[in-house]
Amino acid sequence: METEILRFLKENCDTFVSGEEISHRLHVSRTAVWKHIQNLKENGYEILAQPHLGYRLLKSPDRMLPDEIGYGLKTDLIGKKIISYASTTSTNDIGCSLAEQCAAEGTVIISEEQTRGKGRQGRSWVSPKGAGIYFSVILRPGLSPAEAGKITLMASVAVSRAIRNSLGLNACIKWPNDVYIGSEKVCGILTEMNAEQDAVNFIVLGIGINVNTSRQALPQGATSLKLQLHKSVDRIQLLQELLREIERQYELITRKNFPQLMDAWRNYSLTLGHRIKIKWRNAEIEGQAMDIDENGALMVRDDFGFMHHILSGDVRVVR
Ligand code: BTN
Repeated sequence: METEILRFLKENCDTFVSGEEISHRLHVSRTAVWKHIQNLKENGYEILAQPHLGYRLLKSPDRMLPDEIGYGLKTDLIGKKIISYASTTSTNDIGCSLAEQCAAEGTVIISEEQTRGKGRQGRSWVSPKGAGIYFSVILRPGLSPAEAGKITLMASVAVSRAIRNSLGLNACIKWPNDVYIGSEKVCGILTEMNAEQDAVNFIVLGIGINVNTSRQALPQGATSLKLQLHKSVDRIQLLQELLREIERQYELITRKNFPQLMDAWRNYSLTLGHRIKIKWRNAEIEGQAMDIDENGALMVRDDFGFMHHILSGDVRVVR
């Protein structure tokens, strides 16, 4: 009911709506309306209550609440269900356990902070409260395990597009899926997969973006959108744009239109055409980054002319 009342207040935010009108439209008593309004206020909504006039929404809280993210989102799959936390260990961990319990595809898990945010290759992801966007999406793409790299690739394209389109910043992709602005990292992506021999059961796509994070809170080599723009960024608007973009790019995978996605990735790539070193576990390969293949693996030609198809690792541009 609170969602309905909030929606009604948002739709009429330039005027007052009477308790009577809300109770009539939503078929609840005026006392119930009053109680729900109190709850909304407790959740940080600024609502003006005027005798004889009614209620008027003045300000929504700067929090990643499902009602805020869902309002005007207009996606068919991604974010149809949103679960939010003030604090959690890792949204990917929650995503994996919900996916195991058959949570619907497209479910988004988001948190204001993570106390054990996970990065790639066993690293941690710094997730200070209220500063960034930390979320995971449950996907059931019907791919083989070998094709799972397509998901990280599509996510890096979606993040770059959302940052470019909504903020005008020149976001680029460092293989496999780090999003950079200039020479600093602004977003990391971690996909976790549950699969059989030849079929993926589910993928949890985790994305962390440094949005309004201060320089002091960031690890070395990282930046935030606020530092780049010298002003705070509306996290809800950016997330909505990103969820819509994930839906568009994900459709290219499910409709077998991966070549279009590969072209977008190539356009944003910081890696292709360079001489690089890739570290993966204890091995290191040096060579020329030539292209990506149809599974999202990086194609590297070494000095003996051998072509390697590499699915994950840490890449460093040599020149
Ligand atoms: C990396 O670049 O190392 C990947 C970072 C991924 C961070 C995100 S934040 C939301 C989701 N939950 C996690 O614990 N990790 C991912």
